[in-house]
Amino acid sequence: MKSMEKIVSLAKRRGFLFQSSEIYGGVQGFWDYGPLGVELKRNLKEAWWHDMITSHNELITNTGAPSTFEMVGLDSTIIMHPQVWKCSGHYDLFHDHMVDCRESKRRYRFDQVRGRWVEFQDKKIFVSTLADVEHELDEVRRRGMKFFRLRNKNADQLSIGDDSLTIDKLDSTEQVLAPDAKTLNTLTEPREFNLMFKTTLGALGGEENTTFLRPETAQGIFVNFKNVLDSSRVRAPFGIGQVGKSFRNEITPRNFTFRSREFEQMEIEFFCHPDQSSDWYKFWRDRRLAWYTKLGLSSESLIMREHETEELAHYSIGTADIEYAFPFLPEGEYGELEGIAHRGDFDLRSHMEGKLDPNTPKGQRMEVELGEDGKPKYRGSGKDLAYRDEITNEKFIPHVIEPSAGADRAALAFLCEAFTEDEAPDDKGNLQTRTVMKLHPRLAPVKAAVFPLVKKDGMPEMAKEIYGELKEKFTTFYDEKGAVGRRYRRQDEAGTPFCITVDTDSLKDQTVTIRDRDSLEQWRVKIADVSQELQSRINQ
Ligand code: GAP
Repeated sequence: MKSMEKIVSLAKRRGFLFQSSEIYGGVQGFWDYGPLGVELKRNLKEAWWHDMITSHNELITNTGAPSTFEMVGLDSTIIMHPQVWKCSGHYDLFHDHMVDCRESKRRYRFDQVRGRWVEFQDKKIFVSTLADVEHELDEVRRRGMKFFRLRNKNADQLSIGDDSLTIDKLDSTEQVLAPDAKTLNTLTEPREFNLMFKTTLGALGGEENTTFLRPETAQGIFVNFKNVLDSSRVRAPFGIGQVGKSFRNEITPRNFTFRSREFEQMEIEFFCHPDQSSDWYKFWRDRRLAWYTKLGLSSESLIMREHETEELAHYSIGTADIEYAFPFLPEGEYGELEGIAHRGDFDLRSHMEGKLDPNTPKGQRMEVELGEDGKPKYRGSGKDLAYRDEITNEKFIPHVIEPSAGADRAALAFLCEAFTEDEAPDDKGNLQTRTVMKLHPRLAPVKAAVFPLVKKDGMPEMAKEIYGELKEKFTTFYDEKGAVGRRYRRQDEAGTPFCITVDTDSLKDQTVTIRDRDSLEQWRVKIADVSQELQSRINQ
């Protein structure tokens, strides 16, 4: 099991991630990307954009896709017309249930407090902890013993239930010992809490000028559906992709960047004929899973999980999550990286017609809720968002398949996967433990580092010349400080896949050594061929 503590510490020490506003004590749920982190995340988003939007045709053959398709991009705004969020369902339905602890004054997501029944003599209490606490059983035992004032030697007098349950499964919270409380029954009844951040438009803004920071990029795509159709002449099936910031006022932001309040999404809304939507749903699930493994996540750490019916979001008639075994989770548990949802025609229809009635069973068409005057209470745009096929002349409201990924969650998964402790020889040939970030070369923040073996005999000049040329094509780093072994170690921690060293032979035969970060193999290459050599290895 990898240590999350070590990963977080490396991320900070080497400039991948910093807590936002750290010098003022930080703000919970907000993270800044440092010099290495910003390159990693840019590479990740560029890989997604390249593989999903601009070069998707390479994947069409032998994928089981029902036909060829087109992909285009979009960049819509974060603040949109408030009606968008009424019609999308977010205004009424995008909430979590939270409970407050009257004793500790802490607030928790109802579904994230879990625990076990603990019995001592004839008294039974439910000892709870937060869902992602490490060594949950040990924690429950420790708190149960403290509650009953038991010493270690009497530990066997405590009986602890086999099942770990979330408190939303209990009939009442009267016997619950809350995660940070010392007495029982301190949790309030669960309350709904809308996750959208509010803001006000204009200097005079009152309640009527309230609007929201988008909680997903998807709605920007739906409201531009007609614009894209009319301006780009795409034919269904086609997808519109977008990468951008989203905001959610999460009740309990936690686990490093996993659950943040400001984060980036990489979303595709794929529009297709209703008869073909089930096939496209399968196609996108397979394609998105393959994308993560191609970029280096091991298939043993990834799972595809189909949602149970009661788990489905208000719009979804089928959803599968790609989940990763993040090291902060207990063994055998996985956290969501991406959701692939079959959204039917929910979104386009709601922006045409009106608002979802929360009582409408999932998967059924929404009804327009009427106001006192008998007119629709919340109107959609009233625009016809149906699609007419130019060739067949058939008119229909496309079904939507939505692969929705989080750029920050993916970056975190790649960081966790890459973190490795192994052994490598030092300058004297002795094996030493090293920390190495085995990032896929496409994702690595710095592709190559150039070193002169020593700081004399014309080596720095030659190395700087190579550095200058490579820098035009790749993120490259120059380092002449300290023993070469130490310089390699620094690059290993940054995840740099190739180190190029200029030595005495270089001056004679115009060659350099290239060292591979993972295999530690070294080979000589003509200086004139270095760029080509790196290019082919990075794109493997
Ligand atoms: N448009 C559909 C949608 O937004 P979602 O499952 O709520 O679906 C999609 O979010 C992805 O966005 C998630 O799989 C996750 O990667 C990312 N995401 C969601 N909430 C997040 C948060 N609070 N912090 C970081 N990433 C988040």
